[in-house]
Amino acid sequence: MATDRAWQTWREATSRALYGPGGFFRTQAPAAHFRTSVHVSSAFADAVFRLARSAGLRAVTDVGAGRGELLTTLHQFAQDLDLLGVEVANRPADLPDAVGWSDVVPDTLDGLVIANEWLDDVPLDVVEVDSGGALRLVEVQVETGDERLADPIDGRDLAWVERWWPLADAPPGSRAEVGWPRDDAWAGVVRRLRTGIAVAIDYGHLRERRPYAGTLVGYRAGRLVPPVPDGSCDLTSHVAVDAVARAGEEAGAASTVLTDQRSALRGLGVTGTRPPLTLAHADPGAYLAALARAGEDAELIAPGGLGDFCWLAQARNTELPPLKIRAGG
Ligand SMILES: C[S@@+](CC[C@H](N)C(=O)[O-])C[C@H]1O[C@@H](n2cnc3c(N)ncnc32)[C@H](O)[C@@H]1O
Repeated sequence: MATDRAWQTWREATSRALYGPGGFFRTQAPAAHFRTSVHVSSAFADAVFRLARSAGLRAVTDVGAGRGELLTTLHQFAQDLDLLGVEVANRPADLPDAVGWSDVVPDTLDGLVIANEWLDDVPLDVVEVDSGGALRLVEVQVETGDERLADPIDGRDLAWVERWWPLADAPPGSRAEVGWPRDDAWAGVVRRLRTGIAVAIDYGHLRERRPYAGTLVGYRAGRLVPPVPDGSCDLTSHVAVDAVARAGEEAGAASTVLTDQRSALRGLGVTGTRPPLTLAHADPGAYLAALARAGEDAELIAPGGLGDFCWLAQARNTELPPLKIRAGG
């Protein structure tokens, strides 16, 4: 039978499971467990590069850099870019020497900051509406993933839920992921940004349409698995991007664009358009290569997939290039 010490809040349990000694991200390469835009196509790095160039920025910092795949591709594109990865995992052995690596966000940032699928991995607590309508903290048994309801929430947790994920009229069993640690994480980035643009890219939702069943899931070896905080899988939940955007503004962002990846990448030249058939006759090899690339690009902007990811871009002392706004947004 589980002892009481095995029960933790989701935030405590996730922090240990992902980032503690022997934690998932300290020992596992993200690419072995899920495919992000970075792994899908070099067109993603190309778009990041174009965004930096169009804003006149000469440095790129990748927060939550994984195994440095984005930075390695950027280094191939432009050796004059100043590149830094911020990552709790050790520096990858095959990272080009010119790319810097740190386990903390530097005190000051200048240039383009990219955080691709970082915020969804910031550990959060989960709250649930009980049968009497009270908002109770959810605790989890770290070895099995079993859950139980603990005390009613108060303080900052309650204030955040009331402001960003209201559950006052929601039926018993409705849930919220309490997002203020993410807001703080993002605000910490924007506050350090002296000149430049910070972009967070993640699956997310807005206050008008929160997912009341909650979004916390596990990923292991490319598969969705039940979220068990035992260090064997990624634990991830969708991002309340409007709350994060507000935190960035409060931290000093002078301008903000909130759009989707499809619109942003199309604006940066990723179209997913198939090559003309005439190329197949003229140069079959080039046609096949262009076709493969078009398929990758299409995956980056696909509706129902990566194309629906949110792009939150915030700038300080820099003009934001006109990233396209999503249709209807
Ligand atoms: C889902 S992976 C994404 C990796 C990469 N950005 C990509 O797109 O493939 C999230 C990464 O963020 C890192 N991470 C999470 N919190 C961090 C923090 N506070 N500082 C540095 N890295 C962090 C994790 O170790 C993990 O490698």
